[in-house]
Amino acid sequence: MHTHVAAGNALHVPVLAQACLNFLSRGITGQTAPKNPIMIDCTLGMGGHTEAALLAFPNLTVIGIDRDPQAIALATERLAPFGSRFISVHATYDEVANVAQHYGHKDSEGGVDAILLDAGVSSLQLDESERGFSYAHDAPLDMRMNVQDGANAAELLANLDVKELTKILRDYGEEKFARNIAREIVRGRTTQPITRTGQLVDLIRDVIPAPARRTGGNPAKRAFQALRIAVNDELGCLERAIPAALDSLRVGGCIVVESYQSLEDKIVKRNFVAASTSSAPRGLPVELEEFAPEFKLLTRGAYKASEEEIAENPRSASVRLRAAQRIRAKRGGGAQGVGAGAHTLKHGGGRATGAQSTGGRATGAQPPQQSSQQSPQQHTSSRENTTFAHEQKGRRS
Ligand SMILES: C[S@@+](CC[C@H](N)C(=O)[O-])C[C@H]1O[C@@H](n2cnc3c(N)ncnc32)[C@H](O)[C@@H]1O
Repeated sequence: MHTHVAAGNALHVPVLAQACLNFLSRGITGQTAPKNPIMIDCTLGMGGHTEAALLAFPNLTVIGIDRDPQAIALATERLAPFGSRFISVHATYDEVANVAQHYGHKDSEGGVDAILLDAGVSSLQLDESERGFSYAHDAPLDMRMNVQDGANAAELLANLDVKELTKILRDYGEEKFARNIAREIVRGRTTQPITRTGQLVDLIRDVIPAPARRTGGNPAKRAFQALRIAVNDELGCLERAIPAALDSLRVGGCIVVESYQSLEDKIVKRNFVAASTSSAPRGLPVELEEFAPEFKLLTRGAYKASEEEIAENPRSASVRLRAAQRIRAKRGGGAQGVGAGAHTLKHGGGRATGAQSTGGRATGAQPPQQSSQQSPQQHTSSRENTTFAHEQKGRRS
């Protein structure tokens, strides 16, 4: 295989880009790959992975999804030289089945050849202190990846009770002092609302006992991660997205998911293992086709960055990469359980319209629900009609 990763922007080096390309190439250039393969990048970010893929595979078209309008704008500019080989979609990635249906192949199988999901927050988001993701700078406590989404971090701190806050801090941040911090938030907010990252950092520092503060980096790290996950419903979105992404792959198509914390990786692992395991009842003497697994795993366990890769890109230190390939058609039909060729697309007007969208979630049969944190203006979808409020084609400069 001949793939090459572009140097790109040194500040936003895509994590394990070469490994991603190697796995994805099986779907893009493998035996069953079409002449004009299509990939969905569920987490476009700064477009680093997408750029690498577009450079490595000259016939590839990439559809890049991101919920962050700023990421969409920057990546669209960066990827403009690729012209119509790149299309951006402003949506959450649990809409991947709808996106695959609109932009995927129009034959009876439908779907796409490769899907990449590089979960979590981008360095762009972390670096922009005003967005409130970072505990290193004092800024408004926002943390929404899309500022048009629902409640921000300050609103969660203002409205949740001790039990709810404890659960968030414990479950999403694995914070040992979750209850103490939650209690102090609820007590502290009666005298002064907690609206800035600096206030939260100080509060956490005061709650965590001195010996515990001396280990494990900044004591606010875990709480900030937890709040960010809660604000953006990150795990809920991933839980909906992985089965939908698997459903959207054609036979031979590959998926790569990069996770940065154990809760994300558990979701990916559970879904990948289920998809690659026979569903035959125990005791059957022969494996019947109808029970055979639809996927094979391309990674044994999770692939981790080497020391060399970590030295090159410190963000890769915590990554867990899992990859899988569809080896059998989805039971009950094409890549998305139905023929995907019936809808129409409109380019150029900034909107895409599907006349017969039947995009599904885990089952491939239900229309995706609008995310609870999405504003209706931003994105609407239904069984009959799907619109993406922000869809742009890259332009040749
Ligand atoms: C780690 S960055 C991706 C970086 C990208 N691979 C690159 O090379 O530049 C993750 C991106 O995913 C986006 N994101 C996170 N959760 C999302 C979701 N549920 N739906 C859509 N985009 C999401 C974030 O806004 C962020 O831009």
